[in-house]
Amino acid sequence: LKEAEKDEVLRSMVEPVITIDEKCTVLTFNQAAEEKFGHRAEEVIGQNVNMLMPRDVARHHDGFIQRYLNTGQKHIIGTGREVQGLKADGSLFSMYLSISELPLQANGIRRFIGNCVDLTVLKDKERQLNRAV
Ligand code: HEM
Repeated sequence: LKEAEKDEVLRSMVEPVITIDEKCTVLTFNQAAEEKFGHRAEEVIGQNVNMLMPRDVARHHDGFIQRYLNTGQKHIIGTGREVQGLKADGSLFSMYLSISELPLQANGIRRFIGNCVDLTVLKDKERQLNRAV
């Protein structure tokens, strides 16, 4: 695929997709991410990804990534985790976060790609089902 076509694939993914570098700086932020988090890509690209999470986690997030870089110990990578996302309006939502490390480094810099699935709708359905029984 040509570069422009790859951009288009990422952009058109239904779920929010975010890529960051090893310094936690956002490199890409697709259209679904713009809609879900309520931020324009330009506001987020170049910023620390921790602007998208609640403050208690945000304080530790650089450290989490540093620990992985130093030790190779995976906590979310490969398994995924239910976490909270922080929207531009200050509200939180539950999401299932999956992360992979990109296999190729760019000029020796490691990069990660994350996929966020909103769990709010599923949780509402679950609550309705539980009420029904
Ligand atoms: C690690 C939360 C977004 C990349 C972690 C950990 C937490 C966390 C709690 C540590 C897990 C542990 O040690 O048990 C969040 C939250 C997010 C978020 C609440 C909400 C927006 C992202 C995104 C990326 C990312 C979008 C990458 C594109 C990483 C990496 C690690 C990590 C590389 C270390 C590797 C690992 O623990 O397996 N995150 N994260 N995070 N996160 Fe995030």
